[in-house]
Amino acid sequence: PLETIIAPSILSADFGKLGRECIDTIEHGADWLHVDIMDGHFVPNLTFGAPVVTKIRERVPRPSTAMGKGTFDCHMMISEPHKWVADFKKAGCDLYCFHYEAAISSTAAESPEAKSDEKTTPKKLIKYIHSHGMKAGIAIKPSTPVDVLWDILEDSDEDARPDMVLVMTVEPGFGGQSFMASELPKVTALRGKYPNLPIEVDGGLSEKTIDQAADAGANVIVAGSAVFGAKDPADVISKLRAAVDS
Ligand code: DX5
Ligand code: ZN
Repeated sequence: PLETIIAPSILSADFGKLGRECIDTIEHGADWLHVDIMDGHFVPNLTFGAPVVTKIRERVPRPSTAMGKGTFDCHMMISEPHKWVADFKKAGCDLYCFHYEAAISSTAAESPEAKSDEKTTPKKLIKYIHSHGMKAGIAIKPSTPVDVLWDILEDSDEDARPDMVLVMTVEPGFGGQSFMASELPKVTALRGKYPNLPIEVDGGLSEKTIDQAADAGANVIVAGSAVFGAKDPADVISKLRAAVDS
């Protein structure tokens, strides 16, 4: 049974009172917090790092079950994602979602240090994340075809397979962009093969676009501006959930 998960992106929260915003969002009915980490290199924007995650973790109760309420879903829009696994585990991240494009990037592959490194291919990185006691997610940008994921999802070693796939429905980097329905066939293809795989969509999700995403088969819904820009965030969260459940 595939659960509907609403994961508001705190990128659109008021960073001046981030702890309070996180507590409120969970109280408004959110399942997870989607935590966007940007390094100004993989994407043309900066957010924050592990010290901030540590401090919001102190204010938001930890999930009592794997991927349960209060899960910190860290979306790592960063180059060299293997470098931050230990720090984010320590900070309280539950689900470490890296970008496929970053894990296979020439920078990582070409550095002599990385070449012999056991953490830099997607499968190795997934195992490395698991070895730290976190769930592993793999994200793809709009320009990346879904076909790159089949080999990873079908690996004979369960430990090398991701616990979630994130299909970006905007170019990563900024909140408040327009939803790209062109990405939904990726969700449909994934759902067709994997009825029980958590599939997350991120970017431009709102009451206007949720039905298309849900019809394609997404069950983990990120929404930043739609939730934090609303007069009644609890109402938006419950409407998004109802749309996926129906
Ligand atoms: C974009 C981020 C998203 C963003 C979504 O790079 O990964 O999580 O916060 O914001 P909205 O929902 O406003 O498109
Ligand atoms: Zn995100």
